[in-house]
Amino acid sequence: MKNRIYLNNEWYFSETFEPEMIRAQYDRSGMKEVRIPHTCKETPFHYFDEHVYQMVSGYCRLIHAPKEWDGKCVLLTMDGVAHDCEVYLNEQKIGEHHCGYTAFTMDISRVLCYGQDNILTVKVDSRESLNIPPFGHVIDYMTYGGIYRDVYLDIKEPVYLEDVFLHSEIQIGADPEKDMPVRLLSDICLHGNTHGIYLQQLIREKGTENERILVEKWDVNGNSEITMDTAVAHAKLWEIDHPTLYEIKTRIIKGEEILDEKVISFGFRKAEFRKDGFYLNDKKIKIRGLNRHQSYPYVGYAMPASMQRRDADILKQELGVNAVRTSHYPQSHYFLERCDEIGLMVFTEMPGWQHIGDEKWKEQAIENVREMVIQYRNHPSIILWGVRINESRDDDAFYKKTNEVAHKLDPYRQTGGVRAGKKSSLLEDVYTYNDFSHDGSTPGCEPKKRVTSDMEKPYLVSEYNGHMYPTKAFDWEEHRVEHAIRHANVLDAIAGEEEITGSFGWCMTDYNTHKDFGSGDRICYHGVMDMFRNPKLAADIYAMQQDEQVVLSLSSTMDIGEHPACNRGKTWIFSNADSIRMYKNDRFIKEYVPQDSPYKNLLHGPIEIDDYIGTAIADEENFSKKQAAEIKEALNHVARFGFSNLPKKVIWIALKMMLIHGMKPQQAVELYNRYIGDWGEKATVYRFEAIKDGNVAKEVIKEPMTGMHLWAEADHIELKEDHTYDVAAVRIRMLDENNNQLYFYNEPVLLETEGPVELIGESTISFHGGMCGAYIKTTGREGKAALLIRNAQSQEVRIEFSVTV
Ligand code: GAL
Repeated sequence: MKNRIYLNNEWYFSETFEPEMIRAQYDRSGMKEVRIPHTCKETPFHYFDEHVYQMVSGYCRLIHAPKEWDGKCVLLTMDGVAHDCEVYLNEQKIGEHHCGYTAFTMDISRVLCYGQDNILTVKVDSRESLNIPPFGHVIDYMTYGGIYRDVYLDIKEPVYLEDVFLHSEIQIGADPEKDMPVRLLSDICLHGNTHGIYLQQLIREKGTENERILVEKWDVNGNSEITMDTAVAHAKLWEIDHPTLYEIKTRIIKGEEILDEKVISFGFRKAEFRKDGFYLNDKKIKIRGLNRHQSYPYVGYAMPASMQRRDADILKQELGVNAVRTSHYPQSHYFLERCDEIGLMVFTEMPGWQHIGDEKWKEQAIENVREMVIQYRNHPSIILWGVRINESRDDDAFYKKTNEVAHKLDPYRQTGGVRAGKKSSLLEDVYTYNDFSHDGSTPGCEPKKRVTSDMEKPYLVSEYNGHMYPTKAFDWEEHRVEHAIRHANVLDAIAGEEEITGSFGWCMTDYNTHKDFGSGDRICYHGVMDMFRNPKLAADIYAMQQDEQVVLSLSSTMDIGEHPACNRGKTWIFSNADSIRMYKNDRFIKEYVPQDSPYKNLLHGPIEIDDYIGTAIADEENFSKKQAAEIKEALNHVARFGFSNLPKKVIWIALKMMLIHGMKPQQAVELYNRYIGDWGEKATVYRFEAIKDGNVAKEVIKEPMTGMHLWAEADHIELKEDHTYDVAAVRIRMLDENNNQLYFYNEPVLLETEGPVELIGESTISFHGGMCGAYIKTTGREGKAALLIRNAQSQEVRIEFSVTV
């Protein structure tokens, strides 16, 4: 018998709840058939408000309980119901739950009727007037509603493993032959009559066949709470570059029979915030992370496993960060599991945003901490618990309790609590603070001593940038460049502060929000990516901090007309290459090396282009070497900053050329036009080569666009229904003939599907800054499918998919 049964299909949904819905005879023909994850209301891309998803809705489903289940424990788990719910089975209320971001489990054995269908009904309240976190005041994100994470049944024997909490103790540097440096501690909680049973534990490295016994036979002696302590020979550690995972299987055995077993993906690691930095397995690592909201266009929170996992991959592989903060609530286990697998560290926090409510509200908040810690504590990727409501005021009595709960349930992990104030009351282990002090001209961050009340405790920057400089993909170039540069400024400053353990930038993607925030269209354009997970320029600042893939991009399209007075201003190279060669109309201009970057703390900092001439004047004109160098310097200055406010040095060069060398103004103009001025007969072609290990690893060409084409790519094309429908994300961009994004292309796109898939959201959308996206979902049927993407100015693109069920 399969002992976990997913209940994600065949639900009936209504936007209004009626008490009669709990009855078997209720006429469900007026309800809509839906699948989980489900959002109670699909939304437009922007320009809507929270009223659309605020409702008390009803979900119903039949559960067939075969006769064999009689006498077993049948547990119903709902992983995420936003935000408050009452659960009914066969007309009886079996429980309620008051948090939209944690799971709950109910034993339904006694209410089930065996050998027949049972009617399960869930009344879901997604109104923001609820007296539970995060509600009570304003919130800078939409909170959506619905049953948006998995629902399943576990069929257990009367004695079963209620909880297994794993933790490891590691002695770094010990001799593995002699000392057995890794110990596994398992806190096990058993349900039912535990007489005559024993526990067994097995281990195997994930992805390998070799399972070995860790604990042969552990007599529980009738106890229901047991701690097993075992040495683990030859354990590999969970490191961010080699996140070795083990599957640890804990079993309950009676006689010869296995009554229950739980397999936990676990990593052996020691994570520690110390006063001088963060240490993973005793190695100091600067945390470089981003904040992530779990929302998506159209469907809010309701996305299945593949999309959750993809966000972790984007963070680690595309944005090159080593950590993520799940702002401002616990997120999908699928996301966390992927973080475990790829070595992405996580700071996860209790739900809430600035507001602290009354005593009842606080009780619920404490319960949320309890649920968060119990449900997430086996993830090796989680390195810190956030036990303060994000950016709330001090409340020592309240936060003493949240800290106590977290420490009691997980004595091995430290706590933090995100605040907006300096030197506030510190009950946590780590001072976590949103440092929004950088405004483009001020230093990238504040030093630790100006922020924390306790220099002996570690310090972490939990947010920066965000609202300080909202940036749209279709903003003008200098705005987008400033956005990118501010991220570089903060990262560089934090990299230079030895005592700051690291930082999380605000934020990974744009997100829908309430009227009090955002740009008026109910979007906070704070992401380094847009809502479809398309990168903005600032994404390159993160991407270039890793060395897995060569990054090369230019901060400019090189169109001078985009700049005030046609002065280029500062143009930056974003790259992690060994060097970057620049060519203008195939003439070599300059080779830039990482040391040219003014960012001295970053592994790879942006490099400013300061030469558009190279040796051209020296080679082609009749000047002495010194004169050619001076003219080049003056022209390069003018190219970037124009003729007004010339620095003294440039004025002096000009005077010298005219008074001493007799250069006529007309001659100067000709030189300008020949070497700098970008208009005239011949189009200028700029080419950049990223050199890695002596080879050209990447090339970027910038020239006036003459042709464009639509580019689209799906994150995966083999769709598979597992516990529910699958979704593929498609990124769509308009590119020029050199594959450069066309930033001001905002025209419509038509989307159409073929075969057993459906489009999520609208079928007519438009580009935003040369990019947009689509999501398609499976429908429970197998076969070949396709997405067709059409646009008036380009060839149709067709992406083919296969769907297996
Ligand atoms: C912070 C807050 C975030 C987000 C951010 C925007 O104050 O914690 O949720 O609103 O500002 O910059």
